[in-house]
Amino acid sequence: MCGIVTAISTQNVVPVLLEGLRKLEYRGYDSAGLAVLYNNDLVRLRAAGRVADLAAMADERSLAANIGIAHTRWATHGEPSERNAHPHISDGLAVVHNGIIENYEEIRERLTAKGFKFTSETDTETIAHLVKDKLNEGLDLFEAVRLAANELEGAYAIGVVCENDSTRAIVARKGSPLLLGVGEEGMYAASDTSALLQVTRKVIYLEDGDVAELKLDGYRICLSDGTPVERGITVSSLSADAIELGQYRHYMQKEIFEQPQALANTLEMIAGGNVVSPQVFGAQAGEVLGATRRVLIIACGTSFHAGLVARYWLESIAGIPCSVEIASEYRYRTSVPDPDTLVVVISQSGETADTLAALKHAKSLGMNKTLAICNVPESAIVRETALRFITRAGPEIGVASTKAFTTQLAALALLTLSMAKVNGRLTEEDESRYLTAMRHLPVAVAKVLELEPEIEQWAQRFASKQHALFLGRGRHWPIAMEGALKLKEISYIHAESYAAGELKHGPLALVDRDMPVIAVAPADELIEKLKSNLQEVRARGGELYVFADAGSEIPESDGVHILHMPEHYGMLSPVLHVIPLQLLSYHAALVKGTDVDKPRNLAKSVTVE
Ligand code: G6P
Repeated sequence: MCGIVTAISTQNVVPVLLEGLRKLEYRGYDSAGLAVLYNNDLVRLRAAGRVADLAAMADERSLAANIGIAHTRWATHGEPSERNAHPHISDGLAVVHNGIIENYEEIRERLTAKGFKFTSETDTETIAHLVKDKLNEGLDLFEAVRLAANELEGAYAIGVVCENDSTRAIVARKGSPLLLGVGEEGMYAASDTSALLQVTRKVIYLEDGDVAELKLDGYRICLSDGTPVERGITVSSLSADAIELGQYRHYMQKEIFEQPQALANTLEMIAGGNVVSPQVFGAQAGEVLGATRRVLIIACGTSFHAGLVARYWLESIAGIPCSVEIASEYRYRTSVPDPDTLVVVISQSGETADTLAALKHAKSLGMNKTLAICNVPESAIVRETALRFITRAGPEIGVASTKAFTTQLAALALLTLSMAKVNGRLTEEDESRYLTAMRHLPVAVAKVLELEPEIEQWAQRFASKQHALFLGRGRHWPIAMEGALKLKEISYIHAESYAAGELKHGPLALVDRDMPVIAVAPADELIEKLKSNLQEVRARGGELYVFADAGSEIPESDGVHILHMPEHYGMLSPVLHVIPLQLLSYHAALVKGTDVDKPRNLAKSVTVE
């Protein structure tokens, strides 16, 4: 999704802006641009392509300046093209924007009537003209941005610079992420911390409605009504190494292989003991979980799949009724609120617009028992919930989520055990047994990763296929869903997932020699049922690729390929079974030559609805 960078410094900011954009590339984008003030004149460069193209353009012109704004665009209004790329300009004033302005048509009409000329199809250009309109009325730049922002409906993080006003840049946010960086040589702003680590670790998280002025000698922040406000400085502990590729070819590969460590870090708090403590979700958690009668999980994408696995756990182990909803559906549906429900939002980024809005919607309905499971401690979602659990996956850069998913599952397993405990459904023996299995998870995952060479061979055969069908049952059905999502996201092979028992109610009609069928086949209580479903596929000539545990007892035969996973891992088996599916899609994408970390049309952090 769009990313913005703003910089004012005693040094040349062009390399800072470009490096910032490179660090934001992972969010997903289709064009890039920057604008700087050089001798008080505005210079703009835009490229309908990669940041590398923009950098080459800047290089060619030996561009240097002390103040500027930059942007990676993920098209929402208007096709990806140079014309629609940011910054957008209104007579010497330049704006970059992440978000969606919902009332842009009305503002555009009003400004067109006043004589402003629009040259793009974007909603952002209206912001540039709106601020300019305020400047024309005689307002100062800061006030012009603040008052213009007050007229915007929707979500925005914006950066503004203006000709003949080269001592400051103005930024503002509502709904989209934005933070300031306090550096030795200047002031900065960006959509996330990774873009600023090159110049500073000192960051300030802006709140909704904040407008800030960045100058060489400092900054000031105001609320939307103009009242000055102080926001604390946080020293980011994000390590620059964590976002370097190192020995790996792609971030996705790196992140798949980081899973043992990510799980060990996430589960560090249970490393020493044999008891589950609800306090890992917050000081009030024991009380809140004790008063909880139902769980409602809300999330999007891969995080939604983690929620679906948790439903099986929570109902079978903790005996708590649980429903799982896609955030974009829940937020607009008339539902029946229940104050005794614990609302659990799951999000890697903590900035997904639909998940955040769904959480706010649940709270507005009086559901105030809220818990965030999130990978970014300072994110908007974490700041909105009463309880929280921060997964310690480290920064996830690849658009297709991997280590965030398995660490979310680890957090949800802990939640299940905590709820089982407060409900008196966990014997000491079971508690100790589950915790031992959890502590052993990193080693178990590392063992599964060793299967990569075999999976790589399978991937060769997949890459030529147009379609694939993923099957699973019980708590592994969401794993089949996740496998299908991974394959379509990065290899662009059309993939569907089904609960295997549903096969004969429709998808069996699709099965033929050209439709590989992937089965998640752990040796759990449903394995015999699953085997019957697989027979139905074989009987129609379908080719089966089966991920079986040591005890699944499915013989290899013509058209039935088996990959032998280790011993069945009980409740936590979904954590192991997703790993080969991640590897399968990664290697299929490699064979197909797609842009693994930045798949077409997708974004990492979906900050618009
Ligand atoms: C995007 C990403 C997915 C992610 C989803 C939810 O679609 O490409 O990988 O699962 O957003 O993101 P979140 O940050 O809320 O987990």
